[in-house]
Amino acid sequence: MLDNFLTERLTSIKDSGLLRILRTVQSAPAATITINGKEFINFSSNNYLDLAGNKEIYKSAVSIIEKYGFTAASSRLVSGNLSLHEELESKLAEFKNKEACLLFPSGYQTNVGVISALISNESESCIIMDKLNHASLWDGAKLSGGRIFVYDHCDMNSLEKTLRRTSKYKMKLAITESVFSMDGDFTPLEDFALLCKKYDAIIMLDEAHSTGVFGKEGKGLADFFGVEDKIDITVGTLSKAFALQGGFVCGSKKFIDFLINKSRAFIYTTAVSPAICAAALKALEIVKKSEERRYNIHSISKTLKTKLSDLELDTSKTQSQIIPIITRSIANAEKIALNLLKEGVYAPAIKHPTVPKEQARVRISLTSGHTLNDIEKLLKSVGIY
Ligand SMILES: Cc1ncc(COP(=O)(O)O)c(C=O)c1O
Repeated sequence: MLDNFLTERLTSIKDSGLLRILRTVQSAPAATITINGKEFINFSSNNYLDLAGNKEIYKSAVSIIEKYGFTAASSRLVSGNLSLHEELESKLAEFKNKEACLLFPSGYQTNVGVISALISNESESCIIMDKLNHASLWDGAKLSGGRIFVYDHCDMNSLEKTLRRTSKYKMKLAITESVFSMDGDFTPLEDFALLCKKYDAIIMLDEAHSTGVFGKEGKGLADFFGVEDKIDITVGTLSKAFALQGGFVCGSKKFIDFLINKSRAFIYTTAVSPAICAAALKALEIVKKSEERRYNIHSISKTLKTKLSDLELDTSKTQSQIIPIITRSIANAEKIALNLLKEGVYAPAIKHPTVPKEQARVRISLTSGHTLNDIEKLLKSVGIY
């Protein structure tokens, strides 16, 4: 019965060209990966500073596994709250220039847990969202049951109009990403912060793709634009530049106390593994010192963007290490991805619902581990479609 029902649904997904399948990777997520026994240059990972498999991080994790094993074996509010969690939270709060921090098992869970705790369906609060915000931000917003107002992507006129429309709400939560995950462009954070403060909106900034990559010591884009003190709530993830797993949110001590009491995604889940905490403490030390890695990733991103533009490919408004090649049709995105695969290059086609229907693309994600040879190989086959 269930299978019959699902066959129909899967067939309809397949017929519209949107069927998703899993690829089996048999190697570490480095600049080169092995898929089905064959090596590919990997342009699909968030391992931005090339720290996956870093020996110092590995040793920190192993020494804690020897002492604590793999798991905290309980939620934080029961018996899973280790001194390691508190040490990491304190260091991450300091890194983000905020009073306090709270860890979650993933960045996705962080966003869902924060928004759904803060906003409710009572009429006094509302959410203001960039249209292209990440699924985890949308899911948190929908789960909260609160009223959602959407403004056009990175359009500050549209944001201001929306802020005016929401003046009757006592608490307005304006949510955006610093570097957008599918487009690689920036929220103009100075204007964004100015407008939100003008209309008394609380700012929640997701720095998943900018932490480690932008700003002094990799603090993020808010630091890069000098607006860190205007951001009320900042979200980061350990799964990208830190090359680990887990998410975190930083803000005032009162805000974190509130989440400990009200965030179901924090309360009803097992605490982040002690090995991850130890690894993250070491990764944070390394991230701060990674000026050369940051130089490499910015320099290679700039080179690739210029060369793709020279080929007259549409890389939209990217300003970062995430470089989309917008093809509009799914068929063209898949054709490029296939050409690349044949040449030993892996860069996936991204389609609806991850991006809007007419915005299919190949998404290239660079790391400091990529070389000019790697991008030459990409360029050799990318333009032919
Ligand atoms: C903007 C943004 N926020 C949050 C997340 C979720 O982070 P995680 O992979 O740690 O769950 C992602 C993941 O891709 C993301 O792109």
